[in-house]
Parts: sequence; C-alpha cells; structure tokens
Amino acid sequence: MSRSASIKDVANHARVAVGTVSNVLNYPDRVSQRTKDRVLQAIDELGFVRNDAARQLRAGHSRTIGLIVLDVGNPFFTSVVRAAEDAAALQGSAVLLGDSGHDASRESNYIDLFQEQRVQGLLISPVGDVTERLDQLRERGVPTVLVDRLADETKYSSVSVDDDAGGYLAARHLLDLGRRRLAFVGGPTSIRQVADRLQGAQRAIAEVPDASLEVLDSAGQTVLAGRGVGNQLVRRSAEELPDGVFCANDLLALGVMQSLAMMHTLRIPEDIALIGYDDIDFAVSAVVPLSSIRQPTEALGRTAIELLAEELDAMGPTSVRPHHRAVIFTPELVVRQSTAGASAG
Ligand code: RIB
Repeated sequence: MSRSASIKDVANHARVAVGTVSNVLNYPDRVSQRTKDRVLQAIDELGFVRNDAARQLRAGHSRTIGLIVLDVGNPFFTSVVRAAEDAAALQGSAVLLGDSGHDASRESNYIDLFQEQRVQGLLISPVGDVTERLDQLRERGVPTVLVDRLADETKYSSVSVDDDAGGYLAARHLLDLGRRRLAFVGGPTSIRQVADRLQGAQRAIAEVPDASLEVLDSAGQTVLAGRGVGNQLVRRSAEELPDGVFCANDLLALGVMQSLAMMHTLRIPEDIALIGYDDIDFAVSAVVPLSSIRQPTEALGRTAIELLAEELDAMGPTSVRPHHRAVIFTPELVVRQSTAGASAG
C-alpha cells in the first residue's frame, strides 16, 4: 500500500516551499489566492490528509473538546451532547465524547485520555468529587466547565438547572391535583441531581399537612429500573398505593408506566398520577403522554461551550484574572395526560 502523501510531497507537487503548504493549512490569509489554489489542488490530487499531532504539539492543544456525561443511554445527555457539538463546530472545534456510566474509575480514565489527547478543554457532568483532578488539568492548561452540576463560582464555571426548584414543581403539581400519598423514585441520592430533586419535593410536601412522601428505591435510573419499581407497586393493596408518583427522570417514569400498563390493574392518571423529569422526546410519545419537568438541553449544551470559550480567553496571554460563571436555568412544568386534571380515585 503506497504511503500517504506527506506535506513535503505536496510542496514538491505544487512547486512551493514546505512552509508555504504549512501556511495554507494553518494561516491561509498569509498566502496569495493563486498559490493557495495551487497548493489545495496538489493536496486534492495527492489525497493528502493533515497529521494533526504535529500541529497539536506546536499549539499545545488540539481543536477538540472532551465531554464526559453520566449515561449516553439517557436521551437527556445525548441532547446536551448534540447541542455542545453544534456550538463547538461553529468555533472550529470537535467534541470527543466519554460515557462514565456513573462509574468514577471510568470517568477518571476518560479524564486521563482527554489530557493525553491535548483537548482544548473539558466539559464534565461528574460522578463524584473530581475537584482535585480538575485542578491538575487546569494547571496543565486544560480548563473545565461543569455541566448539569452547580460549581463553586470562585473555582469553576458551570451550567445547570435548579433541580431543587424542579423537584418542588413536580411534587407541587401532584399536590395541586389533590394527590396526597406521593412516592419519589430516583435511584441513589448519591447522585446530586437526584438528591436536589428529592429535596425540592420534600419542600412541597411540607406545605401540605395531610400529604406524605415515600421514597422508593430503584436499581438505577433506567427504564428497566422503573419497570422494577412498577412491578412492586402493582403487587400492593389499594390502601398501600401512592396516588401520585414523581420519578427523578423520564426513563424511570416510562418504566413505571410500562409495568402498570402491562398489568392492567392500575390506571394513569386516575389511580396514579405520574410525572417524570427531563422532558425527553419519548415523554410526549408515551402510551400515556408523560408529564415532566423540562430541562433546556439545547441551552445547556450551547452555554457549556460558551463558558469554556470564556475560560480559554481568560487563560490567554492578555488575561488579567480567572473568570468563572455559574449559569443556572429554571426548569419548566410540562403537563400532559399522565397527570391531566384527574383527581384521585
Ligand atoms: O443522570 C441523572 C439525571 O440527571 C438525568 O436523567 C438528567 O435528569 C440529569 O440531570
């Protein structure tokens, strides 16, 4: 197999110096249009593909941005990723995606990998406390923005949604329907988003004297985990059942809905009013369109890239001081059939 053309081959073919080819690739405004056309024609005829490693070495970083999310199986994160990719492309960068799967060691391996790849910066929805790792990264010239997690503004920029307010909105909505025996399904409260949503729901419950909130364990935050919770509910007696269920994300709520639909014993919303969180695309198309708390995923992804650009600017030679911002979006209640107006019973 013939070796791939080198920058020297292109220079010889276009009858210019190697430096001229480098300028066409990196500083095209320094080259006359006539010479540029000749070089680009040689690149095309030889099928030359630039080796970015050398440029990365010289520039000290690549044109890529590392993005680590908790679960690519969750449409919430893929929607954030897509928005970040679109915003990154507008500034000539690409996104390298890592899925931590809620696992701290996988997350750490991706942080190592992105550092080796000399990414321009890192966006991360962290599993746990990665402050020390992120401090090390920044010392090596790689800034970080926390995504879907509020950070200490004196140390990092972050973009998130007020999950406490979101949890309050969800529980308050069920209470306003007249539901009083609520259940929360969220997975481990070690996940900050889950803990904040539960806290908000508890705030709403405290406002209604005869209301209660039971926390139901789930083996994760997936549809399957939701199915497991739903299977437990259908085995309960009528007086033990909640009349309103708030799930910490839509995947869990869709799983609960599937179980109740398959067992034909409990109706949504008549017997159990059900609300999720995220407002993923599958919520509106569920067999009983799902009420949810909407997170502005497009704004989250775009803003993460904007904040990273500000961090990179602040690290530039003319920067005067570190520049961090915490952007917090307000969640929105989206009412659909799964909680439509039905009073209990
Ligand atoms: O990963 C847990 C949840 O946190 C997701 O469903 C999404 O809501 C994120 O904010």
